[in-house]
Amino acid sequence: HPPSSQMEETSLLGRSGCRAKGGTPGFKVAILGAAGGIGQPLAMLMKMNPLVSVLHLYDVVNTPGVTADLSHMNTGAVVRGFLGQAQLDNALTGIDLVIIPAGVPRKPGMTRDDLFNINAGIVRTLCEGVTRCCPNAIVNLISNPVNSTVPIAAEVFKKAGTYNPRRLLGVTTLDVARANTFVAEVLGLDPRNVNIPVVGGHAGVTILPLLSQATPPSSFTPEEVAYLTERIQNGGTEVVEAKAGTGSATLSMAYAAAQFADACLRGLRGDAGIVECSYVASQVTELPFFASSVRLGRGGVEEFLPLGPLNEFERAGLEKAKKELTESIHKGVSFIKS
Ligand code: NAD
Ligand code: LMR
Repeated sequence: HPPSSQMEETSLLGRSGCRAKGGTPGFKVAILGAAGGIGQPLAMLMKMNPLVSVLHLYDVVNTPGVTADLSHMNTGAVVRGFLGQAQLDNALTGIDLVIIPAGVPRKPGMTRDDLFNINAGIVRTLCEGVTRCCPNAIVNLISNPVNSTVPIAAEVFKKAGTYNPRRLLGVTTLDVARANTFVAEVLGLDPRNVNIPVVGGHAGVTILPLLSQATPPSSFTPEEVAYLTERIQNGGTEVVEAKAGTGSATLSMAYAAAQFADACLRGLRGDAGIVECSYVASQVTELPFFASSVRLGRGGVEEFLPLGPLNEFERAGLEKAKKELTESIHKGVSFIKS
């Protein structure tokens, strides 16, 4: 009969404890919130990633079904499911990369900050598990409001004495994916050949696309700049409204999170030249947390790339972003400190 809660794919008939073969380094990845709208497609994409040898799926609901389903995919990673808080520590033990999309999503009319009251506590509980069971893991934090949940995670890790700022990364990859897509549409290019750095944070005006630094180098009319900036900053809301109360971006987010996790794993493996935008503890501005281009390596964030030259429009945007970010960071820090 099917196992009910903690399960693993390796069957009683299996002749080997681990399916990861072929000499490639296999990393152990945990997804917390794995049964959710982001969690499920993200789990599928990570099950397809050849760098993953073991995939732990944790949630407070439905992981047995998701695990059974994914475990039938004939890819290398061994999938194990963990259900409920009593199994959190087992889900996290020995893990190299923890991806956290746990928490509630927005409905129309809400800001990301409106999710703070519920998601702050969820992120705290999950990060406490990380301090106990895999304090050296890289953490990719997706749960909103990212501008506050990353400072919350940092405070939890500091409290436990395990904080390594280079290993805590807020996922802002979807902002870059959107920027690349919308700019490619305007320029009539293939979105895979476009790269737009998006800096600042992950909410409204804190999302600051640097169109002046586009690859390939491109010029935009003031109308195009206004249209693109507004669309990139409101990309999340565009999806929330289209989904009309049933949730926020899940598929594009899972895709973006899988790209970012893969970059982190390639960094851990020691690949050179891995650069991604991420919301991290930073010295690029005077703010303690800021999203910008970072180089990833064996230690997580290995280098902060300079912001580069900003035009007047972007400098004004940066000031607005900093003002809101300062408040969101303060709110996250106080949640743990007070
Ligand atoms: P969802 O409601 O579909 O799924 C969330 C999952 O989290 C559910 O399965 C739920 O059971 C689980 N969960 C709740 N409490 C938990 C706990 N204590 N421990 C473990 N799991 C728990 O939501 P979703 O659409 O997957 O979105 C998840 C989060 O990601 C939201 O906060 C959303 O705003 C955020 N998000 C962030 C980005 C980004 O770019 N960073 C993009 C999209 C969504
Ligand atoms: C997004 O950018 O799609 C996410 O942050 C979800 C949201 O609430 O917009």
